[in-house]
Amino acid sequence: MLKYFLSKLGDQRKRKRIFYERLTEPLHLNLLSIFIALFGSFEQKIEFDLVIRQQYAFCLLQAAKFAQSLQIPSITVIEFGVAAGAGLLNICEISKKITQATGVQFQIFGFDSGQGLPAPRDYRDIPETFKEGDYPIVDREKLLQALPDNAKLIIGNIAQTVPEFIKSVSQESPIGFIAVDVDYYWSTKECLKVLQGEAEKYLPITLIHLDDIGIPSSNPWVGELLAVNEFNAENHYRKIHPYTFLRNKRIFQRTSWIDYVFVMHTLDHKSRSVDTEKTKVRVLSNPYL
Ligand SMILES: C[S@@+](CC[C@H](N)C(=O)[O-])C[C@H]1O[C@@H](n2cnc3c(N)ncnc32)[C@H](O)[C@@H]1O
Repeated sequence: MLKYFLSKLGDQRKRKRIFYERLTEPLHLNLLSIFIALFGSFEQKIEFDLVIRQQYAFCLLQAAKFAQSLQIPSITVIEFGVAAGAGLLNICEISKKITQATGVQFQIFGFDSGQGLPAPRDYRDIPETFKEGDYPIVDREKLLQALPDNAKLIIGNIAQTVPEFIKSVSQESPIGFIAVDVDYYWSTKECLKVLQGEAEKYLPITLIHLDDIGIPSSNPWVGELLAVNEFNAENHYRKIHPYTFLRNKRIFQRTSWIDYVFVMHTLDHKSRSVDTEKTKVRVLSNPYL
């Protein structure tokens, strides 16, 4: 962690982020972070934003907790857009630690063409920022060797690989988290088709990380946000929405990753049906009586 932190100090953009998003937080919380970094549990480190790719760590832990609350022993998680594989390996590492902490198992999938970005189709793909050939998988063999047994790389155009994949997802290991990092509007639209299978293939609240909504040219009429808006318009029982009040639930509130976290509400999930057996009736106390 310390080595990683020091390496970030060499990058001016990262230095700026650490300064704006972390050092401007209250001193006592930053001091407490040092204690947590040295002696805290993995879960506490996620609470204190001390894990590399905190955005993935939060989503993976939260998905595991949602699964636990429904007594689901295993979840499927996906990274769309793998490139050199740093994100996918990061998911593998974090998931392993979350399994140790929660007992929830992970089935991990990475999707990528292997050849970098395909051609953009029009202004909706934000061609002023992204271009064909960007971010190829550098060393596929090395990446495959580094993947643990519960992780797979699915190579090909997502438009072709997702429809087959969704048939293989089972309700024994529903999708709990998808990381969308394919840059274009049209590729994102293809990724989101993975959320259109039978309801029990998902958690009732499935986490989504949208990686590319923070660039200046992002807006609801292009890129990932346009794909999300169209998904919501086209799917009556599936709605993608920012994670409700996430900022207020975090210790460090100035960090920007919070704004990239969305969820899909699976409105047709059986746990959201009026016929589902409920736990015992809850009674509120009244301090005035
Ligand atoms: C920014 S990179 C991903 C970076 C990676 N998530 C990380 O954090 O290290 C975007 C990737 O999306 C992939 N991609 C974009 N559109 C695709 C499509 N339609 N089918 C398959 N791969 C696609 C590209 O090959 C590229 O590797």
